[in-house]
Amino acid sequence: MANILGGKDVSSKIYEDLKHTLSRATVHPKMVLYCDQPDAATRSYMKSIVTQGEKLGIKVEIFQATESVENDITSLNESGDVAGVMIMHPFKDADEMTALRLLKQEKDLEGRTAKNLGAVVEGDWLFAPPTAEAVMEVLDYYNIEVSGKDVVIVGRSTTVGKPLAMMLLKKGIDATVTVCHSRTTRLEEKTTAAEILVCAVGSAGFVKRDMVKKGSTVIDVGINFEHGKLVGDVAFDEVKDVAKEITPVPGGIGSITTAVLFRHYGTSLRLLEERR
Ligand SMILES: NC(=O)c1ccc[n+]([C@@H]2O[C@H](COP(=O)([O-])OP(=O)(O)OC[C@H]3O[C@@H](n4cnc5c(N)ncnc54)[C@H](OP(=O)(O)O)[C@@H]3O)[C@@H](O)[C@H]2O)c1
Repeated sequence: MANILGGKDVSSKIYEDLKHTLSRATVHPKMVLYCDQPDAATRSYMKSIVTQGEKLGIKVEIFQATESVENDITSLNESGDVAGVMIMHPFKDADEMTALRLLKQEKDLEGRTAKNLGAVVEGDWLFAPPTAEAVMEVLDYYNIEVSGKDVVIVGRSTTVGKPLAMMLLKKGIDATVTVCHSRTTRLEEKTTAAEILVCAVGSAGFVKRDMVKKGSTVIDVGINFEHGKLVGDVAFDEVKDVAKEITPVPGGIGSITTAVLFRHYGTSLRLLEERR
């Protein structure tokens, strides 16, 4: 049976550090969730962020896009009362790309703007996409050696697979990375060669026992609902007997991602204080 790499200890440490930052803050600006007619999943995600903000004493405000995304983002950029902004994907009518193009790098809590993503590629990031950062956090917290290891990531989204690959390739981190996607051929050959396997596909139980190398580390990023139950992309019950260590769902990467998001709030708060 594999060791379980729980996310709670990792996120608790992040929240402890954040509380330190918050206790020293001289200003208490808000976090803004900028959305356009959010769907049920987005509303539920926003609700969970508001609740977590309340626990931490951080004001989180939901801002519905007006007819002018330009005016909205310009005012959020300029406001001294706004530490950072999340652009809540997907938008219904408003132009999400315009919002991302205009949002200031230092208020981009999810590392989605071109400048922040470019910094990830350069290996010197301020805000990386929180889920990719959460994977790095779990590897670091549990002292999982990455240097020189063969890491396979299944999924090439801009929020998970691609930035994670760049972070793992950074000089000094030094993984050898393969990124797979829906057009990848002989996927099993690649995944069974992985010393560290990261799955971010969005398909319940996608990674089966025979896709995993014995004694490897398996990181499950997936969030799926199956028969009303939250499950990951990895068939946990079978893979846990093959892998050396594995992140669970729930209680794995998801909780760390939220903690990283709030850590980003702490960073944007510091930047705002410096500019005053
Ligand atoms: N834990 C967290 O905090 C967190 C945060 C974000 C997302 N998630 C979860 O992570 C999962 C992925 O999210 P995402 O936003 O990255 O999803 P996404 O944008 O839909 O990307 C999914 C990726 O999986 C690839 N894929 C789909 N079917 C495949 C197949 N049969 N074989 C190989 N690759 C395949 C896709 O390939 P193509 O590019 O070729 O289409 C794509 O690159 C979802 O379950 C999501 O809910 C979790």
